[in-house]
Amino acid sequence: MPTKNIIPCYKQEVAKSFNKAASTYDDFSQFQDNVLTNLKGMCPEGDFKLSLDLGCGTGNAANFLSAFSHRLVSLDLSLNMLQKSQQKSPSSFVVCGDAEALPFQNGCFDFIFSSLSIQWCENLNSIGREVERVLQSNGDFLVSTLSQDSMPEIAHCWLQIDGHTHINHYPSYDELIAQISCAGLVPQQIVCEPMTMWFDSPKDAIDSLKKVGASVLVEEDERQIVTPAAWRAFLGEYEKLRTEKGIPLTYQLVYLHLKKI
Ligand SMILES: C[S@@+](CC[C@H](N)C(=O)[O-])C[C@H]1O[C@@H](n2cnc3c(N)ncnc32)[C@H](O)[C@@H]1O
Repeated sequence: MPTKNIIPCYKQEVAKSFNKAASTYDDFSQFQDNVLTNLKGMCPEGDFKLSLDLGCGTGNAANFLSAFSHRLVSLDLSLNMLQKSQQKSPSSFVVCGDAEALPFQNGCFDFIFSSLSIQWCENLNSIGREVERVLQSNGDFLVSTLSQDSMPEIAHCWLQIDGHTHINHYPSYDELIAQISCAGLVPQQIVCEPMTMWFDSPKDAIDSLKKVGASVLVEEDERQIVTPAAWRAFLGEYEKLRTEKGIPLTYQLVYLHLKKI
């Protein structure tokens, strides 16, 4: 995975961005909802004592997870996201915390679920280590995330304008598997596939990122000042990618089911 030149106070920025988006998230989360549906389809059979939704957002997986979990803990970095989650699922325990430093004791969960959250973490090794630490033996970890070459349309258009991609860079499939499946977490099922979302306009495509809080840039060198003229030029470039289906935005998804041995 490319080294991230992590911005000072990066985690606070991520939390701030998702806090801001908590009120609009559910109206713009079509992509996240599609991924959630796919991930739910890979759920192992079981009756779990204590499950964890890691990076739960507004709690869109809570009802599904509660149906086969005696207790559900929903963890997120963003307090506003957790408030939404608590409204949807009052019986789950909400915890404000960092997926890379979980505030739980060893071996307490038998199932950990995480959809489209770990790509915001600084170090996938630490996610693997923390998940392995808090999972019981034989516990399951089901996760979806993004890999290399996600959002090529945005990268392509900005490269024409100022030579920077203005997107986050994601690990290749091999890097992802190597980093997350640390000793003790064994892959059971891996699915990799692209998903293209279609929009009426380039601005709608960009709003689908901004309104769910997904516009924070991780790498310092992709953080460029965007003047009004550059923004107009970007929208013009993006418009050239229109097909009969509309304006495309493509993601490379990885869905992983791992088991702690
Ligand atoms: C795109 S949302 C996905 C939310 C939810 N899982 C869903 O599928 O709708 C990503 C979530 O991950 C959370 N997040 C980002 N970094 C995190 C971290 N280090 N620890 C915990 N949560 C984090 C964000 O606050 C946000 O709520």
